[in-house]
Amino acid sequence: MRMPPGPFPLPIVGNTFSLPEKKPWIYFEELAKRYKTPLLTFWIGRNPTIWICDAWVASELFDKRAGIYASRPRMVVFGELGPGQSSLVSMYYGSRWRVHRKLTHMGVGLQQVRNYLDFQTDESRLVAYNLLTTPEDFVVHLERYAASVVSIIAFGRRITSTKDPVISEVLAVMQKAAELNVPGKSFPMLLETFPLLAKFPNSIAPWKHGLGSKRNGGDRGRPFYYALAEEAAANENQQQCYAKKVFDEAPKYNLSREEIASLNGSLFGAGSDTSSSTLVTFFLACTAFSETLTPAWEELDRVVGSDRSPLMDDEPNLPYVKAFVKEVFRWRSVAIIGGQPHAPIQEDTYKGWLIPKGTWIQGNLWAIHRHERDFPEPDRFNPSRYLKDSPDSRPFPNERGYMAFGWGRRVCSGQGLAEQGTFITIARLLWGFRIEKAKDSSGKEIPVDIFNYTNGLNMRPEPFQCHIYPRSAEIRDTIKREGEEAERRLSVYDGETKYSFSQYNKK
Ligand code: HEM
Repeated sequence: MRMPPGPFPLPIVGNTFSLPEKKPWIYFEELAKRYKTPLLTFWIGRNPTIWICDAWVASELFDKRAGIYASRPRMVVFGELGPGQSSLVSMYYGSRWRVHRKLTHMGVGLQQVRNYLDFQTDESRLVAYNLLTTPEDFVVHLERYAASVVSIIAFGRRITSTKDPVISEVLAVMQKAAELNVPGKSFPMLLETFPLLAKFPNSIAPWKHGLGSKRNGGDRGRPFYYALAEEAAANENQQQCYAKKVFDEAPKYNLSREEIASLNGSLFGAGSDTSSSTLVTFFLACTAFSETLTPAWEELDRVVGSDRSPLMDDEPNLPYVKAFVKEVFRWRSVAIIGGQPHAPIQEDTYKGWLIPKGTWIQGNLWAIHRHERDFPEPDRFNPSRYLKDSPDSRPFPNERGYMAFGWGRRVCSGQGLAEQGTFITIARLLWGFRIEKAKDSSGKEIPVDIFNYTNGLNMRPEPFQCHIYPRSAEIRDTIKREGEEAERRLSVYDGETKYSFSQYNKK
């Protein structure tokens, strides 16, 4: 039996050297069209990888056969040289993964997420408040918001300043890691083709980019997160937080220091850049497709008015805003190749094709969310495709209408938190602001490029300009009043850390 179709592999190197320099997800979408196949095989060295470019196949394999496609493959760069088997994200399926999933659930499971609504809403009120004075810094405000929410959950401590090390240093490292992990023909990803090269010590192996260094106790960031977790758990004055819970559970599950660090650190690693990048995409969509805002304003004015901002409870009465949020998740999904690869725990077949046990199999969200059959004119940002009875709506294999959070048993652990936060923030920003193209000194509109995205696994728009201002004087007053109240309420989470990320990451 043969594996799914794809380009003919060369001995030893497979297809590695036909990978493009950047954004391989576009190349895989083209290959799927060229071979007229919903899933294709592409050889990275001697290892086959499978790329699913069709929502219905992703759903059939990852969701309907979730018990089979629940593991991760062997990964040299992200796995063995990175967080490896102490991190939920890259762990193989099995009893230890179940423990980590359960512990992560204690932090960001749906039950917990409801308890976070108040401070998450207040943090999002601060985004609107900050935009009144420094709209040009919208990206930084979104980063602060997303990092602060996970910091309150993990350590009971909010992030008030954009100078906080969690923003300035950690996010930069996370974005770098997302860039390094993109399948490609240069190092370090070439290590997936030649895994033997990973065995050389770092001192004589510049191609490893410092990955896998044991000098600081493992991968970059781990000791830092352990220190932060220990500090938070020991602080009697700090609010109840996830780090405390993890330390309480540690003896029961015999958790190592690495595991404690990674349970806390994963919330940042998986949750902050993804959430803020999604909101940056929201601003790009508004700037490029300004006509989609008018129906949102009409709905928000009718349902909410000017003397308060929208709340989560308004969601059932805001179908267009809800559709708008869905379209943000679909249009430019941040985890553009669906996060880490899945791997089947046993051999499987699909439509007569063989999928061997342990195969690296990736859901290519770029192709899935741009499939013309499911999303006509896919690059057009069009919330109406998510409205019931709209001529633009099409069937989709799941109820949500998108797959931005992955699939099956490995579906994003933070999905509830992220969806809740994205809704309250987008609803508030749509309610509060006009978001338009910026103008140059001669008054001409500055165009934006809807394809100009970063190259990382978690992608976001490259910097762009837009003009953001409150929709009315009444709305401005409400944003100010609610912002000041939010600031007062959030002060219970004020606190400082004595640690900085760079002190744990000296070369
Ligand atoms: C818009 C925001 C987010 C997006 C688009 C997103 C997307 C994803 C995707 C695509 C995966 C891989 C799923 C798969 O393998 O099928 C994933 C995994 C994961 N996410 Fe998220 N995520 C977001 C926010 C968060 C947040 C806020 C947290 C936690 C605070 C989080 C924690 C995790 C964890 C722990 C995993 C690994 C799960 C496992 O392998 O078992 N994510 N996420």
